[in-house]
Amino acid sequence: MKRLYNIYPKTNKIDMKIPDPHIIVIFGASGDLTKRMLIPAIHQLFIHHLLPDNFAILGTSRTPLTDLEFRKRMNEFLPVAEEANYQFLDKIYYQTIDYESQDDYQKLKTRLESLGQSLNIPPNYLFYLSTPPNLYDVIPEKLALADLNLQADGFKRLIIEKPFGINLSSARKLNISLLKNYEENQIYRIDHYLGKETVQNLMVTRFANGIFEPVWNRNFIERVEISSAESLGVEGRGGYYDHSGAMRDMVQNHLLQVVGMVAMEPPVVIEADAIRHEVMKVFQSLRPIKPEDIHKQVIRGQYTASTIKGQSIAGYREEPGVDPDSHTETFVAMKFYIDNWRWADVPFFIRSGKKLPTRVTEIVIEFKPTPHHLFDQKGFDQYKPNQLIIRIQPDEGILLKFNMKEPGAGFIVNQVNMDFHYSSLTDIHLPAAYERLILDSLHGDATLFSRGDTVEAAWSFIQPILDAWENDHSIPIYGYPAGTWGPYESDGLMEGNSTWRYPCKNLSDDGLYCEL
Ligand code: BG6
Repeated sequence: MKRLYNIYPKTNKIDMKIPDPHIIVIFGASGDLTKRMLIPAIHQLFIHHLLPDNFAILGTSRTPLTDLEFRKRMNEFLPVAEEANYQFLDKIYYQTIDYESQDDYQKLKTRLESLGQSLNIPPNYLFYLSTPPNLYDVIPEKLALADLNLQADGFKRLIIEKPFGINLSSARKLNISLLKNYEENQIYRIDHYLGKETVQNLMVTRFANGIFEPVWNRNFIERVEISSAESLGVEGRGGYYDHSGAMRDMVQNHLLQVVGMVAMEPPVVIEADAIRHEVMKVFQSLRPIKPEDIHKQVIRGQYTASTIKGQSIAGYREEPGVDPDSHTETFVAMKFYIDNWRWADVPFFIRSGKKLPTRVTEIVIEFKPTPHHLFDQKGFDQYKPNQLIIRIQPDEGILLKFNMKEPGAGFIVNQVNMDFHYSSLTDIHLPAAYERLILDSLHGDATLFSRGDTVEAAWSFIQPILDAWENDHSIPIYGYPAGTWGPYESDGLMEGNSTWRYPCKNLSDDGLYCEL
């Protein structure tokens, strides 16, 4: 453990390259994401001295606000007042915009030029699109008409928030529209799961240790399970969510990206395209789920009203903004295969849902049982398979479950845990996903962003399922009481005696009933 304390700060130093002076332009600046995530993330980068002296943030949206009013709003989302907050707020500016008006983009350009002159910042611009998705093609097009896509005098980059399309054809259309005016390396499609420290650690776990990679394949792995559970519901986002559902909201992007990281071949180097090529190869190898197998391999559910700890919880259909007859899924569990040399016939299970018992995201690698049952006096099922659990959140860490002899007479086998928790690295700041991703895009590093073709490949895999759900009304949507682990039918995806892991808040605990 001591060694980790020594090593981490050193690697941190290597990462502490400072980006060139720049202006971050946030479109949709009066929205929720800006105040909850973006401004706090940029603030953290500032506090940790990861930004250059000369940088500015220009918030822009339809709401008329002055610089001062916008600063006041943003101040509410910064941590407790401290001197550095004032220095940070001084770097924030605001400009009202009508997104459809080309004149307003000219005004934006003029404002950027004048800020650049007064603050001594060259025209390096990062445009962050945190607007409703119907503007994801409009804004870049209009920026380009104002020449704000040209890089001769400084970088011009776009960060596009999710959702990137609502289906395969709209994602394709959006890619075509963006690529008309921008190079692929100017486009940063954000998937905040890739910014999570523990998702990146997956690559380090796999490729910086001699012990894992030799067994990371069909010869040793029985199955892979990825769960992303949330205890929250739609939290006032019913209007958006009811048109999205868990498959579009979580699986098509976040969870498939995690599958890519778990399943990819070692990249040649740790560099954007090398890694994204490998993820792309995984997506190309996903075995399409045949229409007749969808009801067997994909289970959808929707939470219903229930009582949790004596408190009545509304069902999904009673949430504001949700159609009272909605068939939108708030839970998905699915089983699929990756048809390649490494993973042939290893089942992958994915599960994601809202209003589940706890908030947890983790990967379970389950290893094959021993070939010969030496301690089989009570039947082989008595001892459990080895599992490596990579906890993405919360209580980030790694857990290895293996079997040991119970002390005493005979050979009673019992499973024990070996665990590492990130929280034991107490002197380390664990950066939030948005911090890492914004910093990377300022450095021009797209490694942790989705490439256009991989987004389309992910949609290609999901689209037949969405189509079947829409067109084949014989495919059921199962209800599950809020606060439970989803419909019982999701257990039916598992083979033999396997079950999902029922994780708790604490990495080392599991079981259907645990602390919530
Ligand atoms: C977002 C989804 O992309 O991810 C939300 O739109 C979801 O519905 C969120 O709650 C989950 O992110 P995290 O980081 O809390 O796991």
